[in-house]
Amino acid sequence: MAVEVVDQEVVARSFTQITDLTEEEVFFIMRLCADMKNGRIAPRPLAGKSVACIFAKQSLRTRVSFEVGIRELGGQSLYITDEEIKLGKRESISDVSQVLSRFVGMIMIRTFKQSDVDELARYASVPVVNGLTDLVHPCQIMGDYFTCTESLPNIKRFRIAYLGDGNNIANSWLNLASIVPMDLRIGTAASCQPDEQILSRAKANPESSILVTDDPKEAVANADVVYTDVWASMGQKDEAEAKSELLRKFQINSELLAGANPECLVMHCLPAERGREITDEVMDGPNSVVFDQAENRLHVQKAIMAFLLKQQ
Ligand code: CP
Ligand code: NVA
Repeated sequence: MAVEVVDQEVVARSFTQITDLTEEEVFFIMRLCADMKNGRIAPRPLAGKSVACIFAKQSLRTRVSFEVGIRELGGQSLYITDEEIKLGKRESISDVSQVLSRFVGMIMIRTFKQSDVDELARYASVPVVNGLTDLVHPCQIMGDYFTCTESLPNIKRFRIAYLGDGNNIANSWLNLASIVPMDLRIGTAASCQPDEQILSRAKANPESSILVTDDPKEAVANADVVYTDVWASMGQKDEAEAKSELLRKFQINSELLAGANPECLVMHCLPAERGREITDEVMDGPNSVVFDQAENRLHVQKAIMAFLLKQQ
């Protein structure tokens, strides 16, 4: 059944982290995403509007899926590198935020510090969407959760095994687990733990079960989803060799995958360092849905943008 976006109070809602949403809103966005993907609805809430897309880090998927999605919602995107605007250095974040709010209908930003995104959202009179920070990658995990629900529609409470660095992807899974019931198992080394506050918040959700372990076999046991990401994220590539040493045993390969549910989904947000955190045979194997995940970024971000615009 097609979903109508409901009218609510007139305030600019931003999407800085998954925890900005309620459980009901997460599922609303999932249904809206399905309707957009299946062509049942094609709203154009950005008609006549522009979206400023600020990038302080590299991107393939985020840039292209936002640019295409903005166009499909009727708007136009402006690609702005941080080289150009020097957020917080050439001028204050609050000034940038207030100036952009006079020109555009929405701001998307990929940067390093979460506090910069939070500050941009605080001063903006238009929605701000987080396209990745060192702390979280909320659009990615919303898209990935959509991929889980469409690929395994009979499972209501997923057992998700995330293996690797306790980074922005691990933190975003934890954020989702703090509002949506799930069984999340993080396999990582003692020195690569996820964010402490985010972990405590997830553990505080009585409907989710959270385990952090340094035993990769324990993490993947009977998992419905086996997920990994690069061991050294953007901005931390100088730590690549050290992280490789620490995380070697968390590589997703056929042997480790044998401990998961045979029907499990293998997921990776991409870009992958094939042969490091994941082997070719697993990434190109029958359980892998990595390119569905990439495609779903487009559909979920359109749903997130439409949802936020309807809240104004
Ligand atoms: N997964 C993801 O965000 O990819 P990009 O870094 O290419 O945008
Ligand atoms: N953890 C990775 C995710 C890339 C989409 C990074 O931040 O580089």
